[in-house]
Amino acid sequence: MALLDFLKPKPKTQPQTPMDAVAAAEQAALQKEQQAIQQFVQGLVDVKDIIAPSAIEIDFNHAVIGGKFFRSYFTVDYPTIVVPNWLSPLINFEYPVDISTFYYPRDTGEILDRLKRKIAEMQATINLEVEAGRQGDPTIKVRLRDALALQEQLAQGSERFFQYSLYLTIHADTLEELEKIAKNLESTMASIGVIIKVATLQQEECFQSTIPYGMDKINESRNLDTTSIATTFPFVSSDLTMEKGILYGLNLHNRSLVIFDRFSLPNANAVVFATSGAGKSFAVKLEAVRSLMLGVEIIIIDPEREYEKLAEAVGGEYISFSQDGAQKLNPFEMSGLYARDEDELRFKILTVSGLVRMMLGGALSPEEAAILDRALILTYKEKGITPDPSTHTKEPPLLEDLYKVLNSMAENEAHSMAIRLEKYVRGSASGVFDQRSNVDLNNTFTVFSIRDLVDELRPLAMYTMLDFIWNRIKRDKRKRLLIIDEAWLMMQYPDAARFVYSIAKRARKYALGLSVISQDVTDFLSSDFGKAVVNNSAMQLLLKQAPSAINTLQEVFYLTEGEKQFLLSAGVGEGIFFAGANHVAIQIVPSENEYNLITTNPNDLIPQQLAEAAADKLDLDNRPIPVPEEPEVAPTASGVATVRPEAAAALVSGGVSAAAMADSLGISESPTASPLQPTSSQASEVPAAAVSPTPPTVVESTNQTQTDVAGWEPPPEVGL
Ligand SMILES: Nc1ncnc2c1ncn2[C@@H]1O[C@H](COP(=O)(O)OP(=O)(O)OP(=O)(O)O)[C@@H](O)[C@H]1O
Ligand SMILES: [Mg+2]
Repeated sequence: MALLDFLKPKPKTQPQTPMDAVAAAEQAALQKEQQAIQQFVQGLVDVKDIIAPSAIEIDFNHAVIGGKFFRSYFTVDYPTIVVPNWLSPLINFEYPVDISTFYYPRDTGEILDRLKRKIAEMQATINLEVEAGRQGDPTIKVRLRDALALQEQLAQGSERFFQYSLYLTIHADTLEELEKIAKNLESTMASIGVIIKVATLQQEECFQSTIPYGMDKINESRNLDTTSIATTFPFVSSDLTMEKGILYGLNLHNRSLVIFDRFSLPNANAVVFATSGAGKSFAVKLEAVRSLMLGVEIIIIDPEREYEKLAEAVGGEYISFSQDGAQKLNPFEMSGLYARDEDELRFKILTVSGLVRMMLGGALSPEEAAILDRALILTYKEKGITPDPSTHTKEPPLLEDLYKVLNSMAENEAHSMAIRLEKYVRGSASGVFDQRSNVDLNNTFTVFSIRDLVDELRPLAMYTMLDFIWNRIKRDKRKRLLIIDEAWLMMQYPDAARFVYSIAKRARKYALGLSVISQDVTDFLSSDFGKAVVNNSAMQLLLKQAPSAINTLQEVFYLTEGEKQFLLSAGVGEGIFFAGANHVAIQIVPSENEYNLITTNPNDLIPQQLAEAAADKLDLDNRPIPVPEEPEVAPTASGVATVRPEAAAALVSGGVSAAAMADSLGISESPTASPLQPTSSQASEVPAAAVSPTPPTVVESTNQTQTDVAGWEPPPEVGL
């Protein structure tokens, strides 16, 4: 051919001007420079050079990249009917899967033309069948109906048309493992009606289609309309796992761990709501012991004497208030701190007047309120305490001083208030709020109990404790959790509710996380302060709910219908955990030791008590122990449990294990004996029975009936 080159027309060459020569020289210099830069860049080491595997081995149905085995799949068919979230088994698949989906919008006009042709074909087939006197294929009729419906929607513009592709890649360290995962994946996909195929001889292209470059190298797509395509939206899996924090439980969606640090939220406050026995106190106790390990200080207000055993186990301090007890708190005591943005005395007077109002029986008339305010200022003034911060370290007044000031005032209202206050200074309720403080917060785990106070004084005591704790907290900033169990006791008094709210609002400044627990959701949320506490709590835990409370909760927490149903049917320790903007369904899971330490289930406690009692008995050398003569009958929540005499006799003879004893007492082993599989039975519903030389007493607590069980001498009282 080269011989015939001369036949080609010669290119016409034009004489070069000096200007062209200069431009050409510049061009050549530029090209040279670019080549040099390119060569230099090629010689540089880039991140890709470092992370890229040295080779990629593409096999028939898998690829080996950097020692790892990969298998890629494409999808050939989808279920005919899909529901929202139908891809969730794939998203929550137990092994890692790389998933890529491609959405191609298609021109509706083109599709309408094709549909028209297809519809005409199907109608013709049906007509032919009818003419031949046959029934016709029912599937064609169904397809025709669907096609007509789609045609109408497309024509109206209410639906658009898309093509959709789904590619998957799984990986494993060995080929055997890859085969195992592949089998699992294929059956998972088959269970949701999706047919996937290994991209045989196209592993490389299919793999490239699943890496985040947005390249569809397989082009295997299916037609879907807008509604169907919307259901493929994959981001439905919720995860709440952080690098640091404590374990709250298992995510019920995908069994991942809910590990969370509440101090990382905008505020560290939490509210816990559930019916009685659903596991509120249990969840909070678990959080407390686990947080303790991270150096968080724990302070608990415990109205039911539930936290004593836990305090003992972790070397904490248990402070119990009673009228005759030695431990006292003076509500007039000040923090002794000077904070520039806070008028300490003014805040203190507001707090004390809240308490006095509660003592006086609630709302005061405007005159009474003004007199009380004046009386309080006077009471502090008499002790030399004025708004000047340097005076705040002086010895604080006592309730009796206020009583005297009120008595010395001229107004009748003052005298009337003094008379109503007398009960707390000299009367039946004296000895609790009218003494100097003699307790302090110097343990990392402190429990304040009010179980030994009469019901009427409990909210007042909770208020006083909260004030005392708040004053101590303000002294030094440290990560702390302040837990108020049975907070509804306080929230029913507007003054106490306001106080809880004011703490919730200011807690963040002092690195404090306030946990408020309540079983009385409706009451709690009906108070504006209650709602405000919820709004100031970045973490919320909802466990099993009563039907009467669920609608209020749904409104406040924006629950979906599914979440509402879930909370109504949740088992013990199951619920929804809200943390900031995220929320997950959670199962709170204790370890066996944690469970034994914090359970309050009578069925767990009685065998424990019996075991302890039996051990104690062995220590008492030959000391005669009275054997109950008559079998005792313990009242139960669901009926009457009879204690058989042989069981009692066996107990005193010390020859039977606690479990066998519980069995012979007619109490089955704990239904929640395996903490990982709690049943839905609740503490308050579980029959309680015990061996007791005296008939057990039924103590009416504020909201539920509980059985106080006495053992033999010395009577090991079981506080349930
Ligand atoms: N997550 C859990 N796993 C296993 N058992 C649990 C769990 N949560 C609670 N329980 C069992 O249920 C019992 C009752 O739980 P808890 O004391 O927390 O109830 P509560 O919601 O605080 O009720 P109340 O409002 O009456 O105080 C626990 O003592 C424990 O035995
Ligand atoms: Mg509780």
